[in-house]
Amino acid sequence: MAGNRATLLIMAGDGIGPEVLAESRRIAEWFILRRGLAAVLTEELFGLAAYRKHGRLLGEDALPRMRAADAILFGATGGLSFAELPPEVGKSDSLLRIRKALDLYANLRPIKALPALAEASTLKARAREGTDLVIVRELSSGIYFGEPRGVETLPDGRRRGINTHSYTSDEIERVARVAFELARKRRNHVTSVDKANVMEAGKLWREVVEALHDADYADVGLSHMLADNCAMQLVRAPHQFDVLLTDNLFGDLLSDGAAMIAGSLGMLPSASLGPVGPDGRRSALYEPVHGSAPDIAGRGIANPLGAILSLALALEWSLGRPADARLLESAVARALDEGARTADIMHAGAKQVSTRGMGDAVLASLERLARG
Ligand code: IPM
Ligand code: MG
Repeated sequence: MAGNRATLLIMAGDGIGPEVLAESRRIAEWFILRRGLAAVLTEELFGLAAYRKHGRLLGEDALPRMRAADAILFGATGGLSFAELPPEVGKSDSLLRIRKALDLYANLRPIKALPALAEASTLKARAREGTDLVIVRELSSGIYFGEPRGVETLPDGRRRGINTHSYTSDEIERVARVAFELARKRRNHVTSVDKANVMEAGKLWREVVEALHDADYADVGLSHMLADNCAMQLVRAPHQFDVLLTDNLFGDLLSDGAAMIAGSLGMLPSASLGPVGPDGRRSALYEPVHGSAPDIAGRGIANPLGAILSLALALEWSLGRPADARLLESAVARALDEGARTADIMHAGAKQVSTRGMGDAVLASLERLARG
């Protein structure tokens, strides 16, 4: 907080991050100006831009600033130029380090089949129609962080790569709690994903979710689904899902696949939430699910809607402005209804716009919706 104003920390990062974040910044400014959002916008370098200035991907005082922020608006990380960095730089300061340092354990990835994007989706209209689901992905544990890890050379000269998938019961329980709480505000159903048929850690996952359900959330519907079946169900009949609860790796894979329900990876927003502290505050980082997309960076053709919809999640989860979140989502839907399309969702008969042009279209819709 700065006085009684919330602090929004913008970290645009690499690749298309700066282009798409420039649009969410303009929209955040619109909410400050036109809707009385009490927030100050500040910036922090991340990625190559930070490396050029500080010799590291994350500046020295970046983590404290991130901890102090009410919400972090994050762009993207990584890209071709990372190959030129000394390996220790790329490793130690990555997005994963941020997730761990801020204990961002709950990653929310909402996926909606907007009618306007029926053409952009590879799924048949009747298969995707009506889909409105949220993947709740565990984000600070599992195989992404498990020890031991590494590559070792065996006595006979063969090499062995090792990663460890591990979860403790409290790690499973806290993310499951987020999923159940969220389901209560939605259609009241959680589908928990695991490979309990193969993995011991998957069996534990199922047990802990089930026990928490019976103890505290018996009013919420719960089903368990094996991860491979879930991949198929997401393209067969995605509207069956309300809240999907997954571990770190399954959530990574399933959310990319599920992007095609929306029509493009460029459409997906996310919120990564830390634990609620004694003062009621929690660290929260909002980022589009698409990566840095180095192949199209700097060309002004990237889709900013994943970043813009991430701002809507920040309005909802960190800034206490659910009505503004709904307004922004409606403005995005309306811009699409009126035919604005970036390259990734373009089809015959629509009007192709630049990254900036899509930002303009959303701002114009906001103006009209605000006037009523
Ligand atoms: C994501 C990304 C990241 C992940 C990468 C960039 C490390 O794919 O947020 O889904 O694997 O978690
Ligand atoms: Mg991913």
